Amino acid sequence: MNFLQTFVQHELGWHPSDVKKAYQELQLGYRAGQRVGYANIEQIQAYVFTRFPATYRVCLKLIEQHLNGLNIQSVLDWGCGIGTASLALSEHFEQLEYYLVEQDPRARAYAVQFLKHFYAHNIVHEDAASSVDLTVFSYSLSEAPDWQHVLDAAWGKTKYLLIIEPGTTVHFKKLLTIRDHMLAKGANLWAPCCHKKTCPLKADDWCHFAVNVPRSKEHRMLKGGARGFEQEAYSYMLFSKEPKDVNFGRLVAPPRIHGGHMDLKICTANAEIITPTVGKSSDNYKALKKSEWGDSLTHESL
Ligand SMILES: C[S@@+](CC[C@H](N)C(=O)[O-])C[C@H]1O[C@@H](n2cnc3c(N)ncnc32)[C@H](O)[C@@H]1O
Repeated sequence: MNFLQTFVQHELGWHPSDVKKAYQELQLGYRAGQRVGYANIEQIQAYVFTRFPATYRVCLKLIEQHLNGLNIQSVLDWGCGIGTASLALSEHFEQLEYYLVEQDPRARAYAVQFLKHFYAHNIVHEDAASSVDLTVFSYSLSEAPDWQHVLDAAWGKTKYLLIIEPGTTVHFKKLLTIRDHMLAKGANLWAPCCHKKTCPLKADDWCHFAVNVPRSKEHRMLKGGARGFEQEAYSYMLFSKEPKDVNFGRLVAPPRIHGGHMDLKICTANAEIITPTVGKSSDNYKALKKSEWGDSLTHESL
């Protein structure tokens, strides 16, 4: 169990059959196209045990990959829910000032409670700021009815802007529209693309990545199935006011390792999809074998 699961189980009361019922209600809601439910503590617990582990891990991965080392002191977490992205940021940044925007007061109250409980030294505001270093839309921008307006307002007040969405074709298409919108505003696109040209992926392909998420026994109890892991696919875009040096490209599929060689799929800085095969005899083979889906590659690494 992770820290939040332990907390909600031990501190907020735990009644497995009620949480299971709440999970089933959430599922019915999702299927009917309704928003995440925060109607009661059991629904919050169901969310913490089923969705949170995956979205939290995606946030952590993107923070490790792209944000570590940046001078970030203040964060707008838009559509924060129970504070997933902010909690993940707090694992990496010593002290942050958070601005939590969330339409659901119950979810926002839990986000504040969790953040203050685990990271007492952070400052937490329950509204937007006049300016921040980083704005995160963690699985929330696609829920905004007027996303251009929300995005433009956020961009006007932030240095870095991270948008995370599920790794589906539908969400990727939406991200491409957002990409065009942001590039037209002069934003610097830091990732995943290494270029500003038209996305070179074929119409039936989509840019996404994935993390492996361990399944707790409570996760299995709520969702069923016996597997110890599930894979969470995600798509994202990171924009900045500052330009960035361009790398050779990014791995847009998991490297396929065979007996004596590996096959890579790379989206390059020239906006091309290339699929090189790297043999064991290559000087770079050993280093490339450690690379992961989503990593950026330098000119020297191939
Ligand atoms: C899928 S949840 C994601 C929650 C959280 N960011 C996470 O990653 O776990 C989307 C959140 O956006 C919030 N949201 C949607 N539209 C909103 C709006 N117009 N203003 C504020 N919050 C909004 C929803 O209430 C919900 O909590």
